[in-house]
Amino acid sequence: MSVVVIRPLAEVPGLAATLAAWHHAHWGHFYDPSDWSLQAATEELRDHATRRGRPTTLVALEGDAPVGSVSLVDEDAPEFTTVGDAWLASLFVRPECRGRGIGRALVRECVALAAREGVPRLWLFTPEHVDFYAALGWRDLGTATLRGHAVHLMDILPA
Ligand SMILES: CC(C)(COP(=O)(O)OP(=O)(O)OC[C@H]1O[C@@H](n2cnc3c(N)ncnc32)[C@H](O)[C@@H]1OP(=O)(O)O)[C@@H](O)C(=O)NCCC(=O)NCCS
Repeated sequence: MSVVVIRPLAEVPGLAATLAAWHHAHWGHFYDPSDWSLQAATEELRDHATRRGRPTTLVALEGDAPVGSVSLVDEDAPEFTTVGDAWLASLFVRPECRGRGIGRALVRECVALAAREGVPRLWLFTPEHVDFYAALGWRDLGTATLRGHAVHLMDILPA
């Protein structure tokens, strides 16, 4: 098993379309296609690849191959803009690479990036991975409804 490293998407900008395809295949059903198309997802990640600070994306690489990613953004869902202004979003590990600690490493790197950016409080929402994030120090703030789906809001103090 080779080593996995986590890099800013800015260092491997050509991977933006690959990551967008993963994300859109996994989360596209949450959205109206006119709100979040594959093209919109790709453009968003190409924009993230232009900078190393928020909004941006980190990529887990095994050799040259992307195996996962996570984003640090200002807004993850318009419904939650009044909740918080810094979000961990779009955590994804390729199915065949799960269970090796890559997801955990991506979350930690994202929180570390937020700390370097001076973000005092970071949020996320998750439909089903509360225990995963809680084991990494995130606090469960309770449930909310997002487009008909129950999600948990969670936060962490990165600094
Ligand atoms: C969630 C996800 C990123 C986890 O990635 P991963 O690389 O498999 O996670 P890790 O290997 O780092 O797991 C770390 C630990 O969390 C555990 N874990 C993983 N998913 C969990 C869950 N849903 N609930 C509780 N624990 C979980 C693992 O068993 C592991 O525990 P261990 O160290 O005791 O073995 C991955 O399953 C994924 O991409 N899912 C689809 C997208 C998704 O749902 N993203 C989250 C959106 S909120």
